[in-house]
Amino acid sequence: MRRAKISVIGAGNVGATCAHWAAAKELGDIVLLDIPDRVGVAKGKALDLACCGPIEEFDCRITGTSDYADTTDSDVVVVTAGLPRKPGMSRDDLIQTNVKIVREVSQQVARHSPNAVMIVVSNPLDAMVYTAWKSSGFPTHRILGQAGALDVARFRTFLAMELGCSVEDIQALLLGGHGDDMVPLPRFTSVHGIPITMLLSKEKIDACTQRAKVGGGEIVTLMGTSAYYAPASGTIQMVEAIVKDKKRILPCAAYCENEFGVAPGAVGKGYFIGVPCVLGSGGMERIVQVALEGDEARLMTESISHVKDLVATVCRIFPELA
Ligand code: NAI
Ligand code: 2OP
Repeated sequence: MRRAKISVIGAGNVGATCAHWAAAKELGDIVLLDIPDRVGVAKGKALDLACCGPIEEFDCRITGTSDYADTTDSDVVVVTAGLPRKPGMSRDDLIQTNVKIVREVSQQVARHSPNAVMIVVSNPLDAMVYTAWKSSGFPTHRILGQAGALDVARFRTFLAMELGCSVEDIQALLLGGHGDDMVPLPRFTSVHGIPITMLLSKEKIDACTQRAKVGGGEIVTLMGTSAYYAPASGTIQMVEAIVKDKKRILPCAAYCENEFGVAPGAVGKGYFIGVPCVLGSGGMERIVQVALEGDEARLMTESISHVKDLVATVCRIFPELA
């Protein structure tokens, strides 16, 4: 059986940690690519990781490179190239620089791995997935963004801390863009099937919701750069669902038109935003629609509107992406 080939573009904190989790789970052969000036970093991290194989008992070929030829015919390509935010910056402040990087990277991915599923991680996430879609020409089911897997993991972690129970027993749903206006949904959050609203007061749920929304910023303030263990872990959860054709339902930034009222009737002019998706070997195989109520719908509309503003900025920088 042919092993899956997973390429990770950007060998920085998130990219190298993606390679780490993918190797530890023995998901396939891994190519770690960075710009020519940082090819030594890509090669060094790949070699260092490969030497964990005998200890951790995984068999993966791990290659560091700056040459896209080495990524040829990847099954999944993870795009982490781009600047991370520093203290005081929002994700949106990265748009001017990262749109150029993600555009160029996506064109290279399309040239070398035209059948891959592309998972974008670079920020501002929802606008960068849009950029990758337009720049690669990939069909919408083969372009996804990682944010929800991370944001839900944070929400579950904070709830488990509050409840003093295992994170494994908490199920949660979160929608919307990967900004501080993301939409955690307590109505769809439970602890081993028990609605969270029966176990925690509204004030405590609100505090956990708020901490999940600004969880990325909390870590930037502590470390001086953005998080990478959990972002990479969330990304590899998606990669695993795809290469193992698991049909997992995970919140991902996926292309929506009529779904969740993102852009009703705007055929071919939709947006990427966090929604629950079935992930399998075809990439994004289906969006799972849920009816939102009252405040949930209002918050989702606000989040969608923020994503649309970001995409408008992308289109001002590169009008051909409109
Ligand atoms: P980093 O600075 O550690 O690594 C970025 C890497 O991208 C660097 O090695 C850089 O040389 C490389 N790079 C830059 N231009 C490139 C190009 N044209 N081709 C290939 N590689 C290129 O940054 P980090 O912490 O890994 O973050 C990467 C991105 O992921 C940032 O935009 C960050 O905001 C985003 N991020 C997104 C998250 C999410 O949940 N969606 C969570 C955490 C970070
Ligand atoms: C995070 O949420 C910065 O998007 C990154 O940690």
